[in-house]
Amino acid sequence: MGQPQQTDGPEAEKPPIRVGMVGYAFMGAAHSQGWRTVGRVFDLPRRPVLAAICGRDGAAVRAAADRYGWAAAETDWRALIARDDVDLVDICTPGDSHAEIALAALAAGKHVLCEKPLANTVAEATAMTRAAEEAETRGQVAMVGFNYRRLPATALARRMVAEGRIGTLRHVRVSYLQDWLVDPQSPLTWRLRKEQAGSGSLGDLGAHIVDLAQYLAGERLAGVSALTETFVRQRPLSGGPGSGLAGEPAAGTGEVTVDDAALFTGRFAGGALASFEATRYATGRKNSLRIELNGERGSLAFDLERLNELAYHDGTEPGTHAGFRRILVTEPDHPYLEAWWPPGHGLGYEHTFVHQARDLVHGIAEGRAPEPSFADGLQVQRVLAAVEESAEKNSVYTPIAG
Ligand SMILES: NC(=O)c1ccc[n+]([C@@H]2O[C@H](COP(=O)([O-])OP(=O)(O)OC[C@H]3O[C@@H](n4cnc5c(N)ncnc54)[C@H](O)[C@@H]3O)[C@@H](O)[C@H]2O)c1
Repeated sequence: MGQPQQTDGPEAEKPPIRVGMVGYAFMGAAHSQGWRTVGRVFDLPRRPVLAAICGRDGAAVRAAADRYGWAAAETDWRALIARDDVDLVDICTPGDSHAEIALAALAAGKHVLCEKPLANTVAEATAMTRAAEEAETRGQVAMVGFNYRRLPATALARRMVAEGRIGTLRHVRVSYLQDWLVDPQSPLTWRLRKEQAGSGSLGDLGAHIVDLAQYLAGERLAGVSALTETFVRQRPLSGGPGSGLAGEPAAGTGEVTVDDAALFTGRFAGGALASFEATRYATGRKNSLRIELNGERGSLAFDLERLNELAYHDGTEPGTHAGFRRILVTEPDHPYLEAWWPPGHGLGYEHTFVHQARDLVHGIAEGRAPEPSFADGLQVQRVLAAVEESAEKNSVYTPIAG
């Protein structure tokens, strides 16, 4: 068990950032890959070290440590936080444990990376944000894992919006579609239980698209009007450890206590109108995230299934030859690409976690809070709460609090 060999060259002389990660399933594997790779691709000011990983099942967490390259394994997150050889706690557990782990880690003087959604409730996210802001005065940083900001194409889209290339924003149209719940026999995993997940496709997929829409727009939603639905209300219980996305059906059934789908419209603070759709019932759609922004001077469109591309229409060009053009976002001066492959050699989903680790390491080394901050995560949580409130009140337009 342990990390790949470190030579005694200049890398070894960089001060380390010793990471302790909680959770070792889907996001645990993805973050492990990010931490393992980042210092070997980017020239970082500090050297990430995969110090310790934590899960509740001793044998399984030791196997995960061995497989993913972590030096040590713990079975209690409190013990992980208490370790002297951990500087940063990376939280890859379901939402019901985010607040408790993050608050304890911040109180113990650690930096924190927390998966999205930041918490299961606005109250938890508020407490986490307060703690993160206090910790910042002591030199700690805290960040939320909205990884879709960290694709070269989405980061380029943000840059182009900020440069004024689409002008005053009029529309944001965004959908995040999956289909892993279409089968009514798919078991009742933690993602379908409100007490563990907070909400369903809303907190899972909706949180991503709210963050991405606001990030690309460079402004925040002012209010929403929503519909939510739970199509299958009873499912087989989940047997064995499984993950949030799959598991073996067990005897008996239980109630689904979260939304299966959420549809909402929104108004941005600057006046643009937005539409959002998040569902796990879009038969045939596996992980389809599409976003389009229309401005007075042009439009941008991104599709996660073609993640090395960005579509751009420059509305100031003569109509005779204007139209959407496909930008292949693989040039060295595109975001994050200075360290990767020659032009045209595309990246994938896993690179978002490498880039997330890169930005966090820079934030820590340079003593500045990286985005998205816990305050950004709290604001997304407030949007989710407004969506739920609106849906409960027959879609009445509901301003975003705060
Ligand atoms: N950024 C993304 O694209 C993305 C994708 C999927 C999930 N997520 C988020 O990541 C988080 C984890 O989701 P996942 O899909 O990895 O779930 P998962 O079910 O695959 O893994 C959860 C892990 O947490 C561990 N765990 C649960 N409670 C624990 C506790 N009290 N102490 C220690 N370990 C504990 C489980 O053993 C498991 O290893 C969620 O907040 C989810 O919303 C983000």
